[in-house]
Amino acid sequence: MSQILQAVRGMNDILPAEAELWELFEETVCSWLKAYGYRPIRMPIVEPTPLFKRAIGEVTDIVEKEMYSFVDGLNGEALTLRPEGTAGCVRAAIQHNLTSTPQRLYYLGQMFRHERPQKGRYRQFHQVGVEAFGYAGPDIDAEQILMGARLWGDLGLDGIELQINSLGQAEERARHRAELIAHFERHAELLDEDAKRRLHTNPLRILDSKNQAMQELCAAAPKLIDFLGEASLEHFEGVQSVLKNAGLPYVVNPRLVRGLDYYNLTVFEWVTDRLGAQGTVCAGGRYDGLVEQLGGKPTPACGFAMGVERLIALIQEADGVPEPAAPDVYLVHQGEMATRLAFQVAEGLRDQGMNVLQHCGGGSFKSQMKKADASGAPFAVIIGDDEATAGEAQLKPLRAGGGEQRRVGVEHLAEAIIDQLLDSEEE
Ligand code: HAM
Repeated sequence: MSQILQAVRGMNDILPAEAELWELFEETVCSWLKAYGYRPIRMPIVEPTPLFKRAIGEVTDIVEKEMYSFVDGLNGEALTLRPEGTAGCVRAAIQHNLTSTPQRLYYLGQMFRHERPQKGRYRQFHQVGVEAFGYAGPDIDAEQILMGARLWGDLGLDGIELQINSLGQAEERARHRAELIAHFERHAELLDEDAKRRLHTNPLRILDSKNQAMQELCAAAPKLIDFLGEASLEHFEGVQSVLKNAGLPYVVNPRLVRGLDYYNLTVFEWVTDRLGAQGTVCAGGRYDGLVEQLGGKPTPACGFAMGVERLIALIQEADGVPEPAAPDVYLVHQGEMATRLAFQVAEGLRDQGMNVLQHCGGGSFKSQMKKADASGAPFAVIIGDDEATAGEAQLKPLRAGGGEQRRVGVEHLAEAIIDQLLDSEEE
């Protein structure tokens, strides 16, 4: 026997019981996005590799070690499976001139990062992302943060903590960076290998280190907030004042630096302690320089993305998996004429808005009726050749109190089902 093929490590099948929950999640998310005026955009899953290098930054974990990059064997082009959506969304907005007027856009779909798989961390995962272009003030940052709070409520989730920080502007970060390097250089003997490598390329990321031995050194490092100018501080205050007015609790986390290079000013993360090490369910911030950096006109921008797998895990923990929706009718049929009529009846009932599970695969009436019972449908419609000859069907209620079984002309079947449903509701 040939070996059974398995899915790629870190890339999961989402089976029907769970996929139904994903659909409910997506419905909630889409109506929530519409309530804030966001419009959908769909970008390709594969983009030119230089797009991610330029947008996310050469010295980031994502670009250095997590990208699924390959050379197109047919034309030699360097391509990458998208590790995130912001770069592609900005590329699309520039390419189609969407940045000349303000835009609120959203996308959902697969992202790919070659990370070590563990609970909540996968190599193929899904994000819902939003990006707003053309808004410079702190109001949109704050609105995007408030959006998160509303969604957690809509999804019935609690205990998700909001952390915010300001990364200031490039010049402010440059001055802070110089001081940071000087600080770490003064204590070079305490730096681990990763930190040494990053010292002159991305010293801010050293602050993100999980290495216990370096925590004290990081805590004593110069704080970016002390290097922020008036305008940056005012922007940060502006965001916080909306959050305070809305009564939304938050924590200012000066260590929140994010793993992608395009951010400036506001950054934020929503974090839970219920998912183990992978507790960030949603993250984002402002990236005013990226549109210009990728060849567009200078355009302020702000966005965030959430990890769908992590949110689904939280929902499952909170309410379990919902029961699959039962069909309205299970259609049982046997005999050549009966089967021909069954197809017509099923389509006719669907025309009336009903969900019909038509029995496929033959079998005795008895075995078909067992399946009808197991389907959870409130009615079985039964057609044998006898009924078919008369242009009729048996309507059999399957739930207690659903009324008597009776024979109905097929043209009156939908009506009879609706009447019987109304009768049983009244009882
Ligand atoms: P990110 O922080 O890299 O930001 O990812 C956003 C979210 O995606 C994370 O908070 C997490 O929930 C989820 N996520 C990331 N990696 C994985 C993984 N390997 N497995 C499962 N879930 C994961 C971005 O991607 C930015 N593009 C967000 C953004 C949009 N900033 C501005 N606009």
